[in-house]
Amino acid sequence: MSEIVSAPADQPVTLSEKTLGSIAELRGRYEDPRAALLPVLHVIQAEHGHLTLALERAVADAMEMPLTKVHEVVSFYTLFRTEAEGKLQVCICQTMSCMLRGARELLTHMRVKYGVGPGETTADGRLTVHAVECLGNCEAGPMAQIGDDYFGPLTPETLDEILEKR
Ligand code: FES
Repeated sequence: MSEIVSAPADQPVTLSEKTLGSIAELRGRYEDPRAALLPVLHVIQAEHGHLTLALERAVADAMEMPLTKVHEVVSFYTLFRTEAEGKLQVCICQTMSCMLRGARELLTHMRVKYGVGPGETTADGRLTVHAVECLGNCEAGPMAQIGDDYFGPLTPETLDEILEKR
């Protein structure tokens, strides 16, 4: 996992030359450069861990679009984080198929073994747990997205094994 650069929430942020280069490259892929907003936000989130208002402002400047437009997108998509979270995101599917196949057991296990429920981060900042909607692989439930990878069917034991290797 890449190093996370912390960004104070209320102070202006200057994006690095490297980041500005990535934004320019992404903008160049689209006929309307503003269409690059989603991939640009992913780049910024990967770099900073989450999206503060100051970062949204810096993105709006770099994308030459209103801050309100950037904020709208950030607040609409749950895949964008506006609060500091753990280094590893553990997203457990809570939709019906996975619930029937043991998702509740996984969530209970996270609470009992790691002390965290949905929306919470371990005290050491290592893990944040999310209860999410269908991950699109219902027949392999219970499913979880851990970091950028998908796993299922999971048991508390296989979940532990995966988390130990991360
Ligand atoms: S219900 Fe969990 S992956 Fe679809």
